[in-house]
Amino acid sequence: MSIPTTSKQTLGIIAGRLAIPTLVLDPDPHCPAKQVSVPPPGTAHVDAVYGSNAAQGVSRLAAQCTVITPEIEHIDADALQGHGNVQPAPETIRLVQDKFVQKKHLKARGVPVCDAVGVDTREQAERAVDALGLPLMLKRRAGAYDGRGNFVLRELRQLDGALAALGATTDGEFGLYAERWAPFVKEVAVMVVRDVHGETRSYDPAETVQRENICRLVLAPLRAADADVARARAVAEDAVCAFAGAGVFGVELFLLDGGAVVVNEIAPRVHNGGHWTEAGCATSQFENHVRAVLGRPLGSTAMVARCAAMVNLIGGDWDFDNAVDIAMGVKGASVHVYGKTWRAGRKLGHVNVVADSDAELRARLRPILLAIDDPDV
Ligand code: ADP
Ligand code: NA
Ligand code: MG
Repeated sequence: MSIPTTSKQTLGIIAGRLAIPTLVLDPDPHCPAKQVSVPPPGTAHVDAVYGSNAAQGVSRLAAQCTVITPEIEHIDADALQGHGNVQPAPETIRLVQDKFVQKKHLKARGVPVCDAVGVDTREQAERAVDALGLPLMLKRRAGAYDGRGNFVLRELRQLDGALAALGATTDGEFGLYAERWAPFVKEVAVMVVRDVHGETRSYDPAETVQRENICRLVLAPLRAADADVARARAVAEDAVCAFAGAGVFGVELFLLDGGAVVVNEIAPRVHNGGHWTEAGCATSQFENHVRAVLGRPLGSTAMVARCAAMVNLIGGDWDFDNAVDIAMGVKGASVHVYGKTWRAGRKLGHVNVVADSDAELRARLRPILLAIDDPDV
């Protein structure tokens, strides 16, 4: 038997350990999260959509709950409005779900971000190339995740293909924006938690390794100059100040040559770049999220391992069950399987690994990365 652990599932498991009942809103009556949370007598999980037209489902949920917390930002934010205690605030969800609006919001508050311009027409796309240079990143403003919705434009002649790939077909309604290329030396994720009273704590910055725009590996703590690590943490905490409400915020940053830090994007929820905290820190991002939205005391964000890593198990040309068994045999490793149907490119689980040194961490990661055919081994 596998215990599937998507984020909302893990939140349910953690809440259960604290005897906090959790009700789940999801169209699938048998979704993994519902399997680990038993509704208290007189209550029931809600089988309804949340992406759009969520008013009915949210009302049914709100009638039974004291706090509502979304674990995904691609939801009907309007439906959350007016439902008492929603954490983080519905306006925060609305602000971040349009990545171009999010970027302008951060910039207006003095948070460093890449230059960006809106692209709704082909002419605007060409002007963006003039203004920002090549390569540049073309992004969908809404609904993007795991790199789906991004296109690296290296040459102008790729433009029509890029627009088609991003579903920008109606001139005037592309719904895209263009972002100046960030020549980063490392990508960094910082989890920041703020409770309903405004107390804020952050976790150690971690390095995230993306391939084809999707996160493959996370390494903590970030190996960089002390001043750069401190700057990443400070910029992440600043960035979160731009958004209202309680909970964990996952802040993605680029560390540039010379130590400058820019914010890539913010997720108003527990984040893949923070899954390592479950094994590496005194209190995981999941537990601190639950505590933060309920107004309970926050736990320590300190690392309890010298080194920690997280490997995403992303459906590929390798044997999933074999990789899980190999990972289970690695000292310092803990395996999380989400119980989702296998699909190429889909995040199906992750493995956390802790160790006493970078060398030991590398040695422990090696058989796991080999089993998933990671080209960096
Ligand atoms: P997603 O919602 O898929 O996480 P992101 O906007 O974070 O989308 O982009 C995914 C990845 O693409 C980033 O983690 C980074 O590796 C790369 N990327 C995004 N924006 C830029 C940029 N402006 N310059 C260089 N690389 C970028
Ligand atoms: Na994202
Ligand atoms: Mg991202």
